[in-house]
Amino acid sequence: MNSNSMSESRISDLQRQHAIDKTVDIVAGPQGMPAVVLRNERGDTANIMLHGAHVTHYQPHDQAPVLWMSQHSRFEAGQPIRGGIPVCWPWFGAHPTDPTLPAHGFARNLPWTLKKTSVLPHGEPCVRMTLSSSHATLQQWPHSFLAEVTVSLGNALTTALSVTNTGEQAFSYTSALHSYFNVSDIRSVIISGLENRCYLDTLVEERGQQQGRLRINSETDRIYFDTDDTCVIEDPLLNRRIHIIKDGSHSTVVWNPWSAKSQRMDDFGDDEFKGMVCIETARALDDSVKLAPGMRHTLKVLLQSESLR
Ligand code: BG6
Repeated sequence: MNSNSMSESRISDLQRQHAIDKTVDIVAGPQGMPAVVLRNERGDTANIMLHGAHVTHYQPHDQAPVLWMSQHSRFEAGQPIRGGIPVCWPWFGAHPTDPTLPAHGFARNLPWTLKKTSVLPHGEPCVRMTLSSSHATLQQWPHSFLAEVTVSLGNALTTALSVTNTGEQAFSYTSALHSYFNVSDIRSVIISGLENRCYLDTLVEERGQQQGRLRINSETDRIYFDTDDTCVIEDPLLNRRIHIIKDGSHSTVVWNPWSAKSQRMDDFGDDEFKGMVCIETARALDDSVKLAPGMRHTLKVLLQSESLR
């Protein structure tokens, strides 16, 4: 059996076990990788790749896609996907001591296991995927864990990362649900919810304080501290507001690579920065999660998009 027909038969098996009439399907996504498609009664849709437990698409029935995906994304074993909601875990950004380890941790680069699909009491289709410690993860991070990502599609798209310490020693980690949003034109959107918050500007390693609402007119890479607040992207040209409502997170990262950095990234189109912004539900820097043996933590984000008129 060649690898294409292997993955086709695996996808057929997953479809037999986990499809739910009209609401959940398991299909071959980009490069034949397995993807879960959720559809709710209103006709909203979401796609989730098992690679990285990565949401690649969310679209309310009457709107443009809420999440941005690069046309240049890789879909390859061991590599991250560019766009959607990468799960950054168990470290956010560069590894604190070993630069040979992958940026933003290994969770987004590994295949996750599809555990369960269901329809929640209010009719929301839901998928649960897991990743547990293995020889490969222990070589990069010496701790026993069970990580679970659940995604459900109701009036909002809810994505949650829960981590349980299944070992005998405490551990800590940093993390993010690194959401990429689809915007009409980065220069015309206004981001609220960060006013007066202090941040680290990682481009110049300087601290600052947000004055008023945020507009982006150049490369931006900031970690805002001590904030549980909802952020809102107001996009007059797409005639909508996207609410980013978070739980279990006290830091928010805002990123747009702008022109020069876009050109340096081979999975990011030179001009694509104009149509995206990342607002990331994070546990970054000092906002790490510490878990004693047997304890569990959940990081969650709800995305809700409403028309301006
Ligand atoms: C953001 C970081 O979260 O992710 C940026 O703040 C980084 O510094 C960006 O460039 C993208 O990271 P990556 O590893 O997906 O290219």
